[in-house]
This record gives sequence, C-alpha cells and structure tokens, in this order.
Amino acid sequence: MVAAVGERRLPPEIFRLLRDLIYEYCGIFFAEDNAYIVHRRLMPRLEALALVDFAEYYRYLRSCDPASRKLELEEIVDRVTTNETYFFRESYQLTAFRSEILPELYDKRPRGKRLSVWSAGCASGEEAYTIAILIQETGLFDDWDVRVFGNDISRRCLQVARKGQYGRNSFRATDDKLVRRYFREVDGKQQVRDEVRALVSFGQINLMDEQMMRLVGDVDVVFCRNVLIYFDTAARKKVISSLHGKLVKGGYLLLGHSESLINLSTAFDLVHLKNDMVYRKP
Ligand SMILES: C[S@@+](CC[C@H](N)C(=O)[O-])C[C@H]1O[C@@H](n2cnc3c(N)ncnc32)[C@H](O)[C@@H]1O
Repeated sequence: MVAAVGERRLPPEIFRLLRDLIYEYCGIFFAEDNAYIVHRRLMPRLEALALVDFAEYYRYLRSCDPASRKLELEEIVDRVTTNETYFFRESYQLTAFRSEILPELYDKRPRGKRLSVWSAGCASGEEAYTIAILIQETGLFDDWDVRVFGNDISRRCLQVARKGQYGRNSFRATDDKLVRRYFREVDGKQQVRDEVRALVSFGQINLMDEQMMRLVGDVDVVFCRNVLIYFDTAARKKVISSLHGKLVKGGYLLLGHSESLINLSTAFDLVHLKNDMVYRKP
C-alpha cells in the first residue's frame, strides 16, 4: 500500500525501512495498514530538515551523526506515540491497589519501611501522581521512605509530567474532593501540591533499552498500562522480562484492562483480588 498525503508519497519499501527503525528503537510496531499514520505524522520532518522525500529522510537517519540520529528518533517517537492518559484511570484496579495491595505491602514490609512504585510508560505523569495520591490516601506510609518513579520515552511528555500542571481533560475521572485536597489552581490549571510532588520523580527511559533499564532500582509494584498494546510479541516479552527482573519477590505487576500475559510470560502468578485480577511475582 502507498500512503498518499500531500505531494510526498511514502513508498511501501521506505515505509518498511522507517517502520523497522522505529521498532528497533522503541518496540512500537506499525502494520502496513497503519502506514498512513507514519506518513502523516512524519511529513513535517521533511519540511523541518529541508529534505526532498522520505527516501532522503531514511538516508538522513542512517547517515547522520549519532547525536542527531538520537534527536531525530526522539522527534519521531514524540510524533508517533499515543500519549493518552488521565488521573484515576481504570478505577477498579486502583481500588485494588489502594485497599488490597498497599495494605498487604504495609503488613508484610518486604523491604522494611521502604515502598517503591513504578509507573512504566507514564506519559504526561497523571498515572504516577495518581499512585502517589493513593499512597497518601491510605494514611499508612507517612513515616516510610516512599518513592514513585515515572518513566517515558517521550521527552515532551516528561516536561509536562515534571511541571505537574493539568487542564480539565486530565480530571475526567477524578473526584472533586481529591482535586481540592491534592491540587491548587495556578493560571487556570490544576497544580499538583508539593507534598505529592515530593514523592514522585520522572526519567526518560526507553523500556526497550537494557542499559537504560539498569538505572531503575527494585520496586514493589509496577504499573505498565496501555503501553505494551503498541508493541509486537517479541518486544512485549522483552519488556515483561525486564519488569519481572525489577520487581521484588511478591511484587505486583498491573497491566491495562485490555492487556494480559497470555503467550508472553509464565513467570507471574495471576492473583484474584476482590477488586481486580493482577499479576504477582512468586
Ligand atoms: C497510552 S500512554 C499510557 C499512559 C499511562 N500508562 C496510562 O495508562 O494512562 C503510552 C505511553 O507509553 C510510552 N512509550 C511507548 N513506547 C515506550 C518505550 N519503548 N519506552 C518508554 N515509554 C514508551 C509512550 O510515549 C506513551 O506516553
């Protein structure tokens, strides 16, 4: 299939080469019938780099110096990734986290009075702050060393996450009481309060990059929701195996509601909690 937007066409063979580059870099896989997405979203890069067509763009990516290549791959990722997220997404799972998983970790104390939770593929940060708010809401961990870490491959998303200021769209599933308790209004937006921000840090980490993944320490719980859906099976297996390596014994893996470990990993137990089914490292 030849995607045709504007005058510069994306021939199928160049689409495949670009698609493979994107896949190698971040695990996101575009099937042939999604060529139009790659075409439409990368077209502005030809203008920006004053390149004649996509073949030249591909040659540029192959031949430029490593620093420019990394920058351009980041540009591509910012354009082709789906960064949709909001506070308190998938409430039944968050109820399980708050009222079942956190109290269990409090009782068992697998790492003393330390609690680490990872939002893997955190987009603009709403998930990481939601986790921190839920930890505060339990009232159990006030004298613990609590760390919530959010990572994403997208620098643009991480800038928003670090700023911690959000518009109305991010609060479509948030109780007003929680907004009043954990946010304050700044310039017409809601700013995450400092006591929540103090628990959360963000880093640019590509889940497919083993070297970068070494920067993440052991965690009690990993949320990796609505990230792996964009990957193919090989990339999913690789990421799940890395997440498994980071979890402590008895630690939990929480995937998105449409995701499961079927055909990906047998290294986790499926645990039926009252509010949700989750994965636990034996
Ligand atoms: C749809 S958002 C999900 C956000 C959040 N987890 C949620 O469920 O609301 C998917 C995020 O995964 C990120 N992502 C995709 N590939 C990635 C990779 N290889 N490493 C890190 N993050 C990645 C994207 O940049 C995007 O922000």
